[in-house]
Formats: sequence, C-alpha cells, structure tokens
Amino acid sequence: MSVVLQPQPINEDKMNAFLGKVVVDFGASLSSALVYIGQKLGLYKTLADAGPATPAELAQRTNTNERYVREWLINQAAGGYVEYDAATGRYHLTPEQSVALTDEHSPFYVGGGFFVIKAMTSAVSRIEDHFRKGGGMLWGEHDPDLFVGTERFFRPGYAAHLIASWIPALTGIEDKLKAGGKVADIGCGHGSSTIIMAQAYPNSRFWGFDNHPKSIETAKQRAIDAGVSDRVTFSVANASEIPDEQFDMVSFFDCLHDMGDPVGACKRASEVLAADGSALIVEPMAGDTVEENFNIIGRTFSGASTLCCTSNSLAQDGPALGAVAPESAIREAVLAGGFKEFRRATETPFNRIFEARN
Ligand SMILES: C[S@@+](CC[C@H](N)C(=O)[O-])C[C@H]1O[C@@H](n2cnc3c(N)ncnc32)[C@H](O)[C@@H]1O
Repeated sequence: MSVVLQPQPINEDKMNAFLGKVVVDFGASLSSALVYIGQKLGLYKTLADAGPATPAELAQRTNTNERYVREWLINQAAGGYVEYDAATGRYHLTPEQSVALTDEHSPFYVGGGFFVIKAMTSAVSRIEDHFRKGGGMLWGEHDPDLFVGTERFFRPGYAAHLIASWIPALTGIEDKLKAGGKVADIGCGHGSSTIIMAQAYPNSRFWGFDNHPKSIETAKQRAIDAGVSDRVTFSVANASEIPDEQFDMVSFFDCLHDMGDPVGACKRASEVLAADGSALIVEPMAGDTVEENFNIIGRTFSGASTLCCTSNSLAQDGPALGAVAPESAIREAVLAGGFKEFRRATETPFNRIFEARN
C-alpha cells in the first residue's frame, strides 16, 4: 500500500534561508578545489613572502598563467581567503590568512584539509557504486593526496596537544616516556605523531606500524629528515599482528574507527602492553547521540567518514565504526579486545582522547 503525501505549503522566508545555505555550499565546494590549487602552486606562499600583488605580478612570481590567477584571486577574495585593495589593484594576505594557509608548523594551519577533500571527493563515483552494491574502498586505493593531506591536516593538532596535554592526561605514561619507555604507534600513516613523540622523549624508543606500505616508505624518510631514525622504526604491519615488545604505550591516532577489525587491533594492543601500560586512542570529536553531530564538526567528520573511513572498514567486512562513532561504540570495541578499563582522558574541540588499560 503506498502512502499519498499531500504537498505542504512553502514558507518563503524558510525557503530563502535554505537556498542561501545551498549557495554558500556551492561557493565553498568550488573554492575548496581552488584552495588546493593555491597550495600546490605556491600562490598563497608567494603572496605571504613577496607581499601584495596584482594578478599579473602573482602569475609572474609563481610562473603561472595570469588569466587563471586573475579568476582565482576573485574567488579567493570573495571567500575571504585573500584581501583586495581596490586603490592599487593588489591582493594580499592578512597575518591570520597567511599563518592558516602557509605555515605548516603552526597549530592554526589548515592547508592539509584541502588535500584530503580533493582526494576524498575524487573517490565519489566509486563510493556511489558501493552505496548500491555494498563493499568499500581501501585506504591505499585512494588518490595519494589523501595520505599527504592526512599528515598535514592532523599534524598541527598533534603538535599543539599531544605532548602538552594528551600524554600527561594518561596514567603515569609521561614519566615513563621521559625516563625511557617503548611506544607502538598503530596506523601511523606518514608517522607525524610518532616523530613528534620521538622528538619530545629522546630516551624512549618508538615503533610505527601501518598496513599501507607506501605510507611506511614515506614515514621512514620523514624520520630521517627529522633526525630521529636512531630511535624510531617504521614497519608494515596489520594492527592485529604487531610484534610484542612489551610497550609502555600503544597509540591509535585517528585510525581505530576505520579499521577492518578494531576489536582484533585492541586485542593485540592489550597483549603487547607492559604491566601498567596504557593505550592512547585518539578519535575525532563526535556526539554520544546522532543529533549531537548536527553541527559543523559532525558535518565534516561524517562526510569524511562516508567517503573514506566507513568505506575502508566495509571493504574488509568490518564493523565500520566510522569517524563519528559514539563513545559507547569505541568502549565496546576496546573492552571486547580484552582491556579492563576505558575512560575519556581529555578532549579538544576536534578530538576525543581515550585511555584503555589492562
Ligand atoms: C586516517 S589515517 C591516520 C594516519 C595517522 N595515524 C595520522 O594520524 O596521521 C588511518 C591510518 O590507519 C591505517 N590503517 C587502517 N587499518 C589498519 C590496520 N588494520 N592495520 C594497520 N594500519 C591500518 C591506514 O593505512 C592509515 O594510514
């Protein structure tokens, strides 16, 4: 039996408000691709370093085509990513725009996010297919900009919080790492979290594991570049098969939720921890109820989750916890893996930081 829905009267103000939101999204989606181009071609960097420029001057300084640059600058000024001085016809960056768009070492740097968005949206046809047929897309099958984008997107947050507040929030781990402990960083990607810890705790030893060989190749080079390869070892390994070194800490940075077997990963982490060790599980900020995710952060993380995290787990017949998994789902996986204790140790606007202990 089909239900006949009666047309509802349209409220003009509400319609205009909704269409206004849509137009913002049209512009934002297109600008996002242009921000990516600006990062790749050094357009922001050159504006930041060489100062105000007309389109022709910026094109000449970046060895790019003036006509494209002129159009790009209009889009960027319309979105508030660059400023325009009508009197001189020149564009420039404010100090805030400059830091957020060009300084990879600043906690305010956001450039990596646009690499992630470019990579994830280029998977859209494939994901559409998985909506129909099930299955998923493995992490390593994505556009390589996902790997470098993830590194650049997450590293500023790790640099700002990992040593200053996340590790100190765990039970006795900071003292162990200062004195000289052992850490396994699971799903380490390009190793930014591993290297930040290795720089902060020179007496400790670090092992980074990831099942994506290309990421491990890059992580090894990053360790050499950072001068920490004496105390960091990166290897290809599945989370549920890492070697037993009786680690003082096992960490999962933004990866447990997209694993094919998060319970198996937790089980192995629990087995390879030394007595009195802790697992550090960093997960994206998300609400405990569905409706607590109806905000700008929940929108971003559930979007990334649909195109990547959920899909990576489904590709392995996994439970697809997803990037907005409620705390109860993470707790369930962690306790099913054999840990006895689980708590939220701390949080930031973008991350939940959990501690699990045997
Ligand atoms: C979102 S990325 C996070 C990378 C890194 N932790 C960071 O914060 O920059 C997720 C990572 O988990 C890795 N991964 C997913 N499932 C895994 C598994 N079963 N074993 C090991 N690594 C895994 C992926 O290859 C990817 O590098």
